[in-house]
Amino acid sequence: MGTDLHELLRSLRVWDTELPGFDPSAAPAEPLPLFEQWFAEAVTAGQTEPHTVALATADEDGLPDVRTVMLHGADAEGWSFATHSTSRKGRQLAARPYAALGFYWPVHGRQVRVRGPVTVAPPEESQADLHVRSTGALAAALVGRQSEVLESTEELAQASEAAWERAQREPDAAAPSWTLYRVAPDEVEFFQGDERRRHVRLTYRRTGSGWVKQLLWP
Ligand SMILES: Cc1cc2nc3c(=O)[nH]c(=O)nc-3n(C[C@H](O)[C@H](O)[C@H](O)COP(=O)(O)O)c2cc1C
Repeated sequence: MGTDLHELLRSLRVWDTELPGFDPSAAPAEPLPLFEQWFAEAVTAGQTEPHTVALATADEDGLPDVRTVMLHGADAEGWSFATHSTSRKGRQLAARPYAALGFYWPVHGRQVRVRGPVTVAPPEESQADLHVRSTGALAAALVGRQSEVLESTEELAQASEAAWERAQREPDAAAPSWTLYRVAPDEVEFFQGDERRRHVRLTYRRTGSGWVKQLLWP
């Protein structure tokens, strides 16, 4: 007998712990320092995997798609992640180089959304980014064929075994389709959840000369 989904859903709550306040009038002029602060606070508070993020793309017909990736960095150039250029998302990004990222850190009831055009890092930078990561990350990248139809789990087991051996033997092995992408933010929104549902939404929009900050109704 399965557990009743709707009963379970009704039993669950969000924002029923003590959440931090957020004074948007004290927020910095640019979004990056606030992102760095919120990210560090999520790590300090023990948020599980705060560096995972939902990456939304659109296919060539404009239909949306989404999946989780790891954040590799955030700096003046944008928020970066890595994947195979030959994967489904890689093909979508080639057709429509624009993406949205969504972070959620429940420990503080905080959400951050980032939207903007996507650029591709040069191959040397993508490979260097891969080679500073773990052997497992390199092995996973070496397996390749991401998003292709898998005929059998044995086929994956063999490819994965070979990739692990190669990653251990050759820590600088190239994974040619592995690519670092950057989302250059046009818009970044910070959402601070509130127990009484008076959530604070602060959005930064890029203009020709800098950033415009606005509050949004929650
Ligand atoms: C926690 C987590 C982290 C992930 N990180 C990455 C990543 O950094 N890069 C990546 O290509 N896939 C990552 N994946 C797998 C993707 O979610 C997705 O399954 C894969 O990239 C294929 O997506 P696509 O078919 O839309 O291209 C991660 C999955 C999870 C659950």
